[in-house]
Amino acid sequence: MTNHAQIGFGLLGAGLIAPFHAKAIQASQSARLVGVADLDRTRLAKLTGEFNCKAYAGLDAMLADPEVQVVNILTPNHLHTQAVLAAARAGRHLLVEKPPAMSLGEVDMMQAACRAAGVKIGVVLQCRTRPSVQAIRTAMQGGRFGKIYQADTIMKWFRPADYYRMDAWRSSRRSGAGVTIQQAFHYIDLLQYLIGPVQRVEAHMTNLAHPGFALEDTALAFVTYANGAQGVVQASTALWPGTDMRVEVNGENGTAIVVGERMDTWKFKDERPEDEAVRRLGSAAAATGARGAADLGFVDHQAVIEDMVKAIVENSEPMISLASVRPTLEWALAMYLSAQQHTPVDLPIVDDQIMW
Ligand SMILES: NC(=O)c1ccc[n+]([C@@H]2O[C@H](COP(=O)([O-])OP(=O)(O)OC[C@H]3O[C@@H](n4cnc5c(N)ncnc54)[C@H](O)[C@@H]3O)[C@@H](O)[C@H]2O)c1
Repeated sequence: MTNHAQIGFGLLGAGLIAPFHAKAIQASQSARLVGVADLDRTRLAKLTGEFNCKAYAGLDAMLADPEVQVVNILTPNHLHTQAVLAAARAGRHLLVEKPPAMSLGEVDMMQAACRAAGVKIGVVLQCRTRPSVQAIRTAMQGGRFGKIYQADTIMKWFRPADYYRMDAWRSSRRSGAGVTIQQAFHYIDLLQYLIGPVQRVEAHMTNLAHPGFALEDTALAFVTYANGAQGVVQASTALWPGTDMRVEVNGENGTAIVVGERMDTWKFKDERPEDEAVRRLGSAAAATGARGAADLGFVDHQAVIEDMVKAIVENSEPMISLASVRPTLEWALAMYLSAQQHTPVDLPIVDDQIMW
């Protein structure tokens, strides 16, 4: 099916990430922003005024509107599950912001509810859609790297104390405010998507530069992948002024390094004619979050929206399916367990051992 009517989207949450979703939906020819729900009337009025769409006082009101076919869950991390379950039961497809939930048990409940209702659920881990990331994925799948020796992410970002004070949940570990499950989740996900699964993690977590907030602003982990490769996760929001994150993959036959969204290094023993174009993927000027929470573009979100429309129209799985994100959450949770227990942790984990 190539010519279809626009799919109607509703946003739950009118906070920081909401305008990026609204712009992404309005920029997608196949999608339409129907309305937004938020308990905070001021935020709701501002966003719905700016994007000229309906305002709902809460999720129930939005779910009563048959024009809303997909609900984007943009509430704080610890509130995603209850909203996903309600929207699925009401027969709505779902796009849930990252991390999808705070435990594997919640992810399994979401998955079961969506399966029972026959609705799609995707996760907004938009970095997967970047052309530089897709180039690595294609080379991995084609075996071009040969044996993988190392795969790392280095995220040296900065968030000021004011960021953690903006909303209560941003400084609450229980709400998923720590750097591992909040900011670095994107790049742990890229490693999982490209190289995973992971067999063992050994993590250390500290608070370097945000005294007074009971969360880790810095996490370091040594990782062993199931394919035998090793790697590190080095993630922080304490490192002023913040520099673009890196994902590095080193195989026996080649090396790829993404910086921000740009392909920084793309070198293989068997150089091919198309490699020159791959080396030009991405832009150093693109905002990818290093220096502030709103230091982002919406192009990657647009790709996620359009992929959801495609999944609905073609009755296929969304590219960033909840099932494909479960191992990413398990990896992040294993890092918390390891840091708490001061010991390496083997996967699979029993996640209710984590003391949020
Ligand atoms: N993909 C990305 O790059 C990216 C970037 C930033 C944030 N996020 C994610 O997006 C989500 C939201 O983050 P944010 O920074 O926009 O948070 P925020 O605090 O700015 O906004 C959340 C909004 O949800 C509203 N809300 C809370 N409970 C509600 C309820 N029961 N019904 C209706 N509205 C409710 C709040 O009033 C608030 O306006 C988080 O999961 C976060 O991790 C993703």
